[in-house]
Amino acid sequence: MKARETWKNRSVFIMAAVGSAIGLGNMWRFPYVAAQNGGGAFLIPYFTALITAGIPIMIIEYGLGRRSQASANVALGAIKKPLRFVGWLSIMAAFGINIYYCIVLAWVINFFIPVFDITSWAVDITSSKIHFFTDILHLSDGPWDFQKIYLPLLIGLFLAWLAIWAIIKSGLGKIGKILLFTVPVPVVLVLILLVRGLTLEGATVGLNYYLSPEWSKLANPQVWLAAYGQIFFSLSVGFGTMIAYSSFMPKNTELPNSAAITSFGNCAFSFLAGFAVFSVLGYFAFITNVPIEQVAQAGPSLAFIVYPAALAQLPLWIKFFAFLFFLTLLLLGIDSAFSLLETVSTALSDKFNFSRTKATTIVALTSFLLGIPLSTGAGLYWLDIIDHFIMNYLITITAIMECIAIGWVMGTKKFTAEINKNAEIRIGFIFSFLVKFLTPLILITTIIISFIREIEKPYEGYPFSAIMVLGVGTLIFLIICALLLSVFKNDYEEEQENGIRLSNGGN
Ligand code: PHE
Repeated sequence: MKARETWKNRSVFIMAAVGSAIGLGNMWRFPYVAAQNGGGAFLIPYFTALITAGIPIMIIEYGLGRRSQASANVALGAIKKPLRFVGWLSIMAAFGINIYYCIVLAWVINFFIPVFDITSWAVDITSSKIHFFTDILHLSDGPWDFQKIYLPLLIGLFLAWLAIWAIIKSGLGKIGKILLFTVPVPVVLVLILLVRGLTLEGATVGLNYYLSPEWSKLANPQVWLAAYGQIFFSLSVGFGTMIAYSSFMPKNTELPNSAAITSFGNCAFSFLAGFAVFSVLGYFAFITNVPIEQVAQAGPSLAFIVYPAALAQLPLWIKFFAFLFFLTLLLLGIDSAFSLLETVSTALSDKFNFSRTKATTIVALTSFLLGIPLSTGAGLYWLDIIDHFIMNYLITITAIMECIAIGWVMGTKKFTAEINKNAEIRIGFIFSFLVKFLTPLILITTIIISFIREIEKPYEGYPFSAIMVLGVGTLIFLIICALLLSVFKNDYEEEQENGIRLSNGGN
């Protein structure tokens, strides 16, 4: 067996984990998901999800990575062979997400040239909408109306993949150095945007909307599922990403406190980014006399339509702040995107004994090719549907299965004992109760109720065929891939699983 690469020390590991967690999810996905699901009220299910599922599953993934020094498939397979499938399922979710994550990066890249001309295309929401939907996305009339592949999007997609491929191929030492730039810089940039936002007239209108709870929404299970989905997406848990990253940590690395630092750091950042976004939206509502509810209801386009329109109304330094905003998005997204690539490529290396270069090249190339339909006029519809199904169903299922694997198959006693070795914060009863009972129960209930509602009312009114092919079809495709990968050609996987079993004294 090859000696495994490791992060230089615990700080580099934490930085990598934070870099993966803090991404477009915080600045692009969080504000619109919060706005769609009750504004301030959303913070309640969101923080509940953080405590009951985010942190416990983060600890699970760190623990699995550290004990096995291998990717999710091997780490879970070492507990019990059939669990290898759960590992592959989570890795496949990462694979699916990365395909559309990079197209969002491609949109961001496509904003860099027009950004200096922002005052001409973002005069108001309508013109900003036209710019995003027509000039950048060339959005068609529906998911089956492709028009054609748009070259600038394709080039953006290619550049995004080229960058993350080159970074991941270069190995952990280089990645550690790149993280020194891609983690702190966007945080500073968001702080600058935050100060700018908070000092604008009318900012409170936005913040009131952001923070005032719409209690009635809390009765809707779909809001809860969206909150759990957002936590999983934002913390990068449930995807095997944190298992892959922690498989490179030195075996004596402290775990529970590292998990708490990563999780709270990420959510505090989302919360802050929410202030940066909503204060500017409040200013925009104030200056243009449009009700804030209307301003905030823009779904995935919030960051690309409404926010630029708001920036274009700034009293001074419009181009500077607009440039800063897109640079922030790019830097936020890049280290999350490469963590997704790492998840899948490490798994391939751990299965087939591929070199880093070979594994990253195969994954990056396949994902780039599969992402090409997203650079057509139907791209946004595809992204929206695929995201909804992976995030609401697949990830919830892998999270439930990870809880069951640790809570019931391996047993929390053995697991907590392993975690508590050299822990700065010890875990015990609460962790066990959450992982064995509460978290799976909440997730199973919300997923069932939401599924029933899903059947009653197709997501966002998309045609039934699109929901079936792109939503359900993607899930079936990913499940079949996971199944094939867990059943075939697994001598090398098995050899490692047995090794882990031996060195950890049974499962
Ligand atoms: N956490 C990242 C974000 O918030 C996205 C991500 C999801 C990264 C899953 C890795 C794994 O943008």
